[in-house]
Amino acid sequence: MAARREETHFGDKTVPLVDKQGLVDDVFHSVARRYDLMNDLMSGGLHRAWKDALVTAVNPPKSDRPFALLDLAGGTGDVAFRVVAAGGPGTRVTVCDINAEMLSVGRERAAERGYDDVVRFEQGNAEELAYPDRSFDCVTIAFGIRNVPRIERALAEAHRVLKIGGRFLCLEFSSVDVPGLETLYQLYSFNVIPAIGEAVTGDREAYKYLVESIRRFPKPKAFAQIIEEAHFRRVSFTPMTGGVVALHSGWRL
Ligand SMILES: C[S@@+](CC[C@H](N)C(=O)[O-])C[C@H]1O[C@@H](n2cnc3c(N)ncnc32)[C@H](O)[C@@H]1O
Repeated sequence: MAARREETHFGDKTVPLVDKQGLVDDVFHSVARRYDLMNDLMSGGLHRAWKDALVTAVNPPKSDRPFALLDLAGGTGDVAFRVVAAGGPGTRVTVCDINAEMLSVGRERAAERGYDDVVRFEQGNAEELAYPDRSFDCVTIAFGIRNVPRIERALAEAHRVLKIGGRFLCLEFSSVDVPGLETLYQLYSFNVIPAIGEAVTGDREAYKYLVESIRRFPKPKAFAQIIEEAHFRRVSFTPMTGGVVALHSGWRL
């Protein structure tokens, strides 16, 4: 009997699970050079405030105490740069992303900021990290987890590489919980975002995928449960902007 092929969603299509990563890679390869501009346009600059809330939770030491952060799916380095700016001289960030093009933009941005020595950009799959057990004080992932085909594997890896007492923080689009705002948000995301995406990057399909992947992502309570199942403790989440985004947290204890 032939083995049953596992399937998943890619945008509004059902695809074999093994094909999803390649399709996601094509999306970010296509938009990498315009990715940061698009973030500002799509969110009206709000992504900056969401990332600042993430950095506040990371709370890097202001002293020269060593602090190692792993920013998974860290793309062009936005979170990494903010953490370095907030932390003291002992703060070091490793940006791990599967996409060479996003990392290449990130390296250029790091050089412009004089951050070459404190932020490292490394290609890797969040599902299978090349780092030793218990090697980071904190692991973050911002707007990345919904792109990873096997979320449970990425969470298990984040848990494995965290030191005991270390914190996992995940910023992700969530589900709007303010009556009225939901309709407006759906209209905006399904009509305006792909149109802006097409105008700025020439790739409407990429932004249709991103919007659809947000819609399909588990509700925050369900996602918190998935984080708990990956053995994180004191799991919690904080909705922001009426639930457009949530900041999820868990500790390795
Ligand atoms: C929406 S971007 C987020 C980038 C960055 N964290 C930010 O907030 O600006 C999603 C990123 O996830 C990366 N990604 C997708 N699948 C991945 C995987 N399996 N492992 C590591 N990175 C992945 C993509 O290459 C892309 O850079």
